[in-house]
Amino acid sequence: MIQTTKNNVTVVQHPLCEHNLSIIRDKYINSDGFKNSIKRLATILILEATKDLPLKDYNVTTPIKDCKTKKISDEYKIIFAPILRAGLAISDVASEIVPDASIQHVGMYRDETTLEPVWYYDKTPVKYKDPEHVKVFILDPMLATGNSAHAAISLFLKKGILIENLVFISILSAPDGINLLTKDFPNLKIITAKIDESLNSKGYIVPGLGDAGDRLFNTFEK
Ligand code: URA
Repeated sequence: MIQTTKNNVTVVQHPLCEHNLSIIRDKYINSDGFKNSIKRLATILILEATKDLPLKDYNVTTPIKDCKTKKISDEYKIIFAPILRAGLAISDVASEIVPDASIQHVGMYRDETTLEPVWYYDKTPVKYKDPEHVKVFILDPMLATGNSAHAAISLFLKKGILIENLVFISILSAPDGINLLTKDFPNLKIITAKIDESLNSKGYIVPGLGDAGDRLFNTFEK
């Protein structure tokens, strides 16, 4: 997969990313078309984000003979943490690809005036048993101001997860969000399909795609 990486920010470049980004940006695409393209993009990003998961040797008997193979090592617990609600579209795909992963939802909504995140749900454990052996992939299709992302990352760091074991995955990102996260968490890996131009005064990504949650769950007035 072609990608450009700078300051731990990887922008995945693939013709299918461009194609599906065009679909999700289009305001005339219905919710079903939007969801399907989000899922295709999520698949590409999850594959990229998990490409360094450690492997362990494994022996298997095929119908033909015994052979040595590899499986994902159980040295690390793998967690996907969707930021509600739009992150669910990515965690649905992630749990198909990595079925043994734990899905730990975190819920924040954006205060419309301050654009600051307000917590309403946290399904992470009070304490991780062995936090140094936990890999967390935080999922949100939109990295806009970066405030919710910042709050979610801070939560996992506070619980002892190592920054090198944290990955933030977004489909579309704004320069503000990227700058905030790279400034405060220079060792955080960020994986995205595109960095857009800017944010508007309401904190929406420009040109973006509008409100990802509303488009996924069909909850906006046309
Ligand atoms: N959240 C969204 O759903 N869209 C944006 O453009 C920014 C944040």
